[in-house]
Amino acid sequence: MAIPIRVKVNGQVEALEVAPDESLLSMLRERLDLTGAKEGCNEGECGACVVLLDGKAVNACLVLAAEADGHEVTTIEGLGRPGALHPLQKAFLAHQAVQCGFCTPGMIMTALSLLLENPAPTEEEVRTAISGNLCRCTGYRQILDAVQAAAQEMRAGAQGRRP
Ligand code: FES
Ligand code: FES
Repeated sequence: MAIPIRVKVNGQVEALEVAPDESLLSMLRERLDLTGAKEGCNEGECGACVVLLDGKAVNACLVLAAEADGHEVTTIEGLGRPGALHPLQKAFLAHQAVQCGFCTPGMIMTALSLLLENPAPTEEEVRTAISGNLCRCTGYRQILDAVQAAAQEMRAGAQGRRP
């Protein structure tokens, strides 16, 4: 039995019919061709699939597509584009926080969720926020530095926009 849903994905309303047991991750990757969120463990352990659901980081493998009905989803594809990268994307590149890249979309979306809530996190707060995101390549130091650099740039940007 297909379930009709309407979900806003990266600013665009999508009307879809999803299976009752279909995950948000499958819906994004297989129906909408948004393959930035990665399928790692598929059981909530690795964080490779993290997207924002109404601005909060969720493991898309653990959310049913049907649960996203009426909500807003942001994936890494909704953040920036070549030539106009998001501060987090720029900082990850500048700090060599991307190696194989498999963890990167989930790591950036988790960091974004943190910075939306807490624009000036301590290193400990960043560590706690990304504790559900596994990276086998970087040893995390570069990622921690990148998140702090992006936080600084985002704060400076917010100040610049104040009247
Ligand atoms: S694929 Fe979702 S947490 Fe690993
Ligand atoms: S860059 Fe390879 S898993 Fe993180």
